[in-house]
Amino acid sequence: MNSIKLHGDKIFFGNDSTKALRNLEGKRAFVVTGGTTIKKKGYLDEVIAQLKAAGFSVKCFDSVEPDPSVETVQAGAEQMIEFSPDYIVAIGGGSPIDAAKAMWIFYEHPDLDFANTLDLVDIPSLRNKAKFVAIPTTSGTASEVTKAMVIKDKKKKLKKGIRTEDAIPDLAILEPKFTATMPAWLTAATGMDAFTHALEAYVSVKANDFSDVLATGALEGIFKFLPLAFVKPDNLEYREKVLNYQSIAGMAFSNVGLGIVHSMAHQLGGVFGVAHGLANALILPYVVQYNTKSEAAQQKYEHLAKRLGVSDLALAIKGLNKELEIPMAIKELDISKEEFELELDLIVKRALEDGCTLTNPRRINEKEMKALFKYIYEGKKIDF
Ligand SMILES: [Fe+2]
Repeated sequence: MNSIKLHGDKIFFGNDSTKALRNLEGKRAFVVTGGTTIKKKGYLDEVIAQLKAAGFSVKCFDSVEPDPSVETVQAGAEQMIEFSPDYIVAIGGGSPIDAAKAMWIFYEHPDLDFANTLDLVDIPSLRNKAKFVAIPTTSGTASEVTKAMVIKDKKKKLKKGIRTEDAIPDLAILEPKFTATMPAWLTAATGMDAFTHALEAYVSVKANDFSDVLATGALEGIFKFLPLAFVKPDNLEYREKVLNYQSIAGMAFSNVGLGIVHSMAHQLGGVFGVAHGLANALILPYVVQYNTKSEAAQQKYEHLAKRLGVSDLALAIKGLNKELEIPMAIKELDISKEEFELELDLIVKRALEDGCTLTNPRRINEKEMKALFKYIYEGKKIDF
């Protein structure tokens, strides 16, 4: 027996999707956000105005930082408990949406122990108090359709993923103009994060007919429209395409998992502070070369290359990275060889332990992981 869950109640997409907020029924809405661009552009006000038009009184928690901490989650949850919302509305990149999901857990269950937030295994059911709306302003994490949230424990210097199917937002609102606030580098990085989600899901050992259709469709769409959105950032048609396809990529990976691109990228992020999508984009073509030794993955890569109209998938991804002005090797990231080698044993160990390694199509041992990191540092073709 197998099962798949693609998203919550409904996804609204296309221009003016925020109008969907007017049809919500409830008394109090708690808005969670971070950053300043959506405020400057008036988009936060637009969301609040729609909620007020629906009769909600609104309280806003607007200080979620990138890589949200346990403390932020705690502060937000305390305010939620005081305000007692029946809707939680998260607007922003992955960080505010993830933080709001975690706040939601502690709002619903104030008896849970914050000290053990990151070790929660059996999260009790949600929606006893509130429903959840997610409105992304970046195009990559797909947190609006996934069960995952990443919260940072500053004391333990650890980023931890929490997963529960109940945390899939009830409503996802994909408003293209909100993502047009992204600068070019973020468009490239988040878009390639989504491309990596789809490609790792496609060759995951848990892949199935459902996830394959979603993943290949998302790969085709992102491959075509991400470079266009990158060069024409104000074109809302291109923004809408990338936004929709990244969500579809999210549906695939949320169900079948990822692979060692993410295992390795998590370490470049954790130890060297490399942006998540950028790390994924850089690592992806090398892992494709590594995975071709898996017959199942190789067949899928060939099928995908045909669909994308390219002869060599790894080279095509390198070409895409070049178009998006993404560096080709770790050494181009301002990480010295000494610095890199000093941390190498640690990042190899942690990458092997990362949960995403379990669903990679080709097994990997310590020696191979170390070689892979070294080759990617130098930008050398993977030949083992
Ligand atoms: Fe990712």
